[in-house]
Parts: sequence; structure tokens; C-alpha cells
Amino acid sequence: MSALFSPGRIGSLELENRIVVSPMCQYSAVDGVAQPWHLIHVGGLMMSGAGLVIVEATAVEDIGRGTHGCLGLYRDDQETALAKLLDEARKLSGARIGIQLTHCGRKASTRTIPERWKGEPLPVEEGAWTPVAPSPLAFDGHWPVPEELDETGIERIIGAFAASARRAAQAGFDLVEIHGAHGYLIHNFLSPLSNRRSDRWGGTRENRMRFAIGIARAVRSVLPPAIALGFRINSTDWHPDGSSLEDAVALAQALEDVGVDYAVMSAGNIAPGISIPPAAPGHQVSFATEIKKRTGLSAMAVGMIAQPRQAEAIVANGEADFVALARPMLDNPRWGLHAAAALGADIRYPPQYIRARPNNWLGFGFVHPEARPPETSLQLDRPRSVSWDRPAGRT
Ligand SMILES: Cc1cc2nc3c(=O)[nH]c(=O)nc-3n(C[C@H](O)[C@H](O)[C@H](O)COP(=O)(O)O)c2cc1C
Repeated sequence: MSALFSPGRIGSLELENRIVVSPMCQYSAVDGVAQPWHLIHVGGLMMSGAGLVIVEATAVEDIGRGTHGCLGLYRDDQETALAKLLDEARKLSGARIGIQLTHCGRKASTRTIPERWKGEPLPVEEGAWTPVAPSPLAFDGHWPVPEELDETGIERIIGAFAASARRAAQAGFDLVEIHGAHGYLIHNFLSPLSNRRSDRWGGTRENRMRFAIGIARAVRSVLPPAIALGFRINSTDWHPDGSSLEDAVALAQALEDVGVDYAVMSAGNIAPGISIPPAAPGHQVSFATEIKKRTGLSAMAVGMIAQPRQAEAIVANGEADFVALARPMLDNPRWGLHAAAALGADIRYPPQYIRARPNNWLGFGFVHPEARPPETSLQLDRPRSVSWDRPAGRT
């Protein structure tokens, strides 16, 4: 019995298995509105075999977008487009669908260059805007100095998260994830490297957490109980003067108190030039394990989890409750289906693709020898390949 393919639960949301598609920006929205590309992208991932697909970082106000191509959820037309996308995507599989809400803070207003690994500040002639942040500290030398948020601005953004969460519920999402990592606005408040305030929003850890907790509380208050709420936490800034794993655990405990259901543990990107350990397989799993040990939250591990047996071991050993995958899902949008074959788990297959199911297609073993170990080969279903609707002379 595979642990990875055992049913899971986040809050009151039930999931068919423990595989999650991690949110991935597509830089393909028009004025924050989802396009056919988003349905193709999300639709493909709905057929990946994952139990949960989380839609990319979606801004709660226009100046919170990272680029002109980022999704937004602060206008009716944006909500309508996402609701339509959900209607179609739900026809494709039983996977649940979440959305990540974000404000990019001092890393907003960057260029829409999908092929670039790192964003670059948007030039004025391409419609740059002034980003906002807890303190007027640029992300890097050539980046714009953000405007320091005052009380009114802070309260506006907390309200914007709640308003977008309400829209997410109306659109039909099963889960909302708040983006509190990767150097974006919430992380800007949490980290002493980007928050130099001396009012109630800065200084002590408790003060730096106030914005994150305020957002989580506001979002939870507008979400029906059936909708799960998660938080992407920065596990460490990898810097002696930055946020540490202890800070992350303290945040997770406080988030649990305001009704957050899970934490997904990521790290880094608060500032350039910080040396971080090389990204080895499963390099952030231990952060999720810490959350699992020290809080009552469901713990999601992310980062360099690419092999089915690796993912299986993480869940089976109790290192995390869920595994989230990003690049492996772009590389192979049938990752979960192949993992099921490798682990001997039964899994629903899109009927349109049933002829490629391992037990129906003899060629599967040649293409994916690693996914058909002898002990599990062809044990997924009753073999139907021999007589099943196969044109004569074809294999
Ligand atoms: C194309 C792409 C877009 C991403 N966009 C987001 C995003 O919108 N929100 C987020 O929290 N992380 C984002 N990430 C990070 C991933 O969710 C994930 O944490 C990271 O890639 C590590 O997982 P992996 O090794 O499975 O790719 C993105 C990653 C990729 C490759």
C-alpha cells in the first residue's frame, strides 16, 4: 500500500492522494485575467495524477503583481475568468484546485520574460510602477526603492487579501494558499533584512509577524470552513541577520492559532547575493518535518522532489504529509500516473488516455523501465490489453 497514494486531508478538504502541484507563475495573463493558456496549463496538470493542483501566485491588487503578465483576483472580470477555468478543469479529474494569493512587495514591477530565471525591474517605458514594502529598501542596487507602507496602506493590503480570498471562494476554489515566502511582501515584513520599521509592524519577531498573522486571520474569516487555508513559509533566509527556522516555526504556530490548516516550507530569495547550500534532492524536506513535529499543521514539503520512490519515502517515513512538485510536473505532466505505476498504486486514468495506461500498453515498460519494477508490473488493474479495442496489427 503506497503512502503517497493514500488519501489525505487538509483541514476539512479531502484529497485523493498526497501529491500536490506547486504553484507556478505563467506570466501569461492579460491585465490580470486568465487566458486559454491557463486552462491548458492547469487542465494538463489536472491529469497529472496529483490530488491537488495549486494555481500560480495571483495578486490581490494591481501594484502587487510581479509582472504585467501575472494573474490578479481583485476585479470581477478576473474572478469570472477563473470561475470559467475551474468549471472546465473540474471535468478533467477529481483533483482539487487551490489558488495562491500574493502581493509581490518590493519585487513587484518586473519584466515579463518567461525565459529568464531572474526577474529584472520593469523599465519606465514598459509601464513600471512604484512597488511598496515595509521599508524603503530596494531588492538590489538597480531595483527601484519601494514606497514605505503607512498604516492605511498596510490595512488596505490586509483587506485586499481578504477580498481576493472571498473572490476565490466565489469562483469555486477548494483551497487558498497565502504566499509568505520568496522575498515578496509578507516575507518583506517577516525578515529583519527587509523590515527596518520601529512601529508595531517591525522590530521584534512578534511585530514582524503581525502583518502575516493579520492577513491569515482576515482570509480565514471570509473563507467557508470547507475551504482549506495554507501558508507558504520562508523556512530560513540563509543569513545570520535574517529569519531563521525558529522564526518559521514560531510563525507556523501563530498561523495555526488563527485557523491555517497547512504550511508549505520553502526558503530563500529575500535578497540577492546570499550564499545558500546547493539544492540537493529533497533539500527543504527537513523544514517540513520540523513543522510536523512542532505544530498541528499539515506539513507540505517542496523542492527537488522528483522521484516517485523519494516522494513515497517522505510520506511513508512521516517527514511530511504532502509533497509539492513544480518543475517535475512541467517536465512530465503525467508524473503522478507514472508514480502510480512505479509504486503499484491504482489510480484513476483520464478515459481518453486509457490506452496508454501501463496495464493496457505493452510499450510502457520500454519507455519507462524504471516505472515498471518486476514486483509491481501489470498489477494495476485486470489486464485488458489483449482484447481491448486494439486495432489489428497494432501494438
Ligand atoms: C515556472 C515556475 C514558476 C513558479 N512560480 C511560483 C509561484 O507562483 N509561487 C510560488 O510560491 N512558487 C513558485 N515557483 C516555485 C515552485 O512552486 C517550487 O517551490 C520550486 O520550483 C521548487 O520545487 P521543484 O524543485 O519541484 O521545482 C515557481 C517555480 C517554477 C519552476
